[in-house]
Amino acid sequence: MDFNANVRPADMERITTPELAKAFIDAQVKAVRDQVGDGRVLLALSGGVDSSVVAALLIKAIGKRLVCVHVNHGLLRKGEPEQVINVFGKELGAELIYVDATDRFLNKLAGVADPETKRKVIGAEFINVFAEEARKLNGVNFLAQGTIYPDILESNGVKAHHNVGGLPDDLKDRFALVEPVKLLFKDEVRMVGKELGLPDNMVFRQPFPGPGLGVRCIGAITRDRLEAVRESDAILREEFAREGLDRKVWQYFTLIPDIKSVGVRNSKRVDEWAVVIRAVNTVDAMSATVEPLEFAFLDRVTKRILAEVKGVNRVLYDLSPKPAATIEWE
Ligand code: XMP
Repeated sequence: MDFNANVRPADMERITTPELAKAFIDAQVKAVRDQVGDGRVLLALSGGVDSSVVAALLIKAIGKRLVCVHVNHGLLRKGEPEQVINVFGKELGAELIYVDATDRFLNKLAGVADPETKRKVIGAEFINVFAEEARKLNGVNFLAQGTIYPDILESNGVKAHHNVGGLPDDLKDRFALVEPVKLLFKDEVRMVGKELGLPDNMVFRQPFPGPGLGVRCIGAITRDRLEAVRESDAILREEFAREGLDRKVWQYFTLIPDIKSVGVRNSKRVDEWAVVIRAVNTVDAMSATVEPLEFAFLDRVTKRILAEVKGVNRVLYDLSPKPAATIEWE
């Protein structure tokens, strides 16, 4: 395939079967080898579907000449950094640099309550951390990105919400881009990921915003609420998987507004946080309907959150469709 082409050829077959996925992989492995020769390639590996599929594809093509950098901004879901380290660092034997930048991000975010400012701080700090790692590496002249076709269609070729989009000039000039899935739609990327042997819970995962749990810890992020969001979200995901709802519902998560309310613990009145459950279905995220979760299911999740998550005394289910609401709260 032509690496410079930003337009999907009219006769390009939709990847709907494992055989077609395999043919695509074989073609891209060859194309990547032709493009990079014996060079090295850098990739920001978030663990999301797109960057994971690109990583697996490039490992197949060039092995340890792919250098993956996984930046943990402290706003990932429970188990995510561990899964990246296990799948890519251990099972696939990738060259993986893991950066735990949690303290750095949380320090920068301290007291920042405005949602857009939070997003900007997270995006800018991500570039800083990634650029620092990139500058430490010698002989790496290619940058791989998990750009997919909707990114090109929506933003004229620039992956607007992609974290590496705004690299400083010295790095931009140094790298040629490698974007092996840029002509694929999301379902095709998943098909390719599955054929590459990535785990289902990586390939079929629900959408997760780049700023991560940062936008689900409403207002200024505090460590206690961040941990409570992470723990309650893990409980919700566990219960969704147990019920087989994880492949049925489009997006489901918890969030914590910055409001305390009074409750009772050990016969004492104590002010604690409220956890909100959100579960929605949509086709294009422009509008969304609420999943009619069974009361017994909500009851079970509520009991677990109240028993297992520190500092939480209420659990609410958000019944608001988009519009009037949005999917996230900020
Ligand atoms: P809203 O809240 O606008 O969300 O209804 C629509 C979809 O976009 C996701 N989302 C984001 N994704 N960075 C992202 O990468 C963001 O800042 C962001 N904000 C919202 C949201 O999870 C939903 O799937």
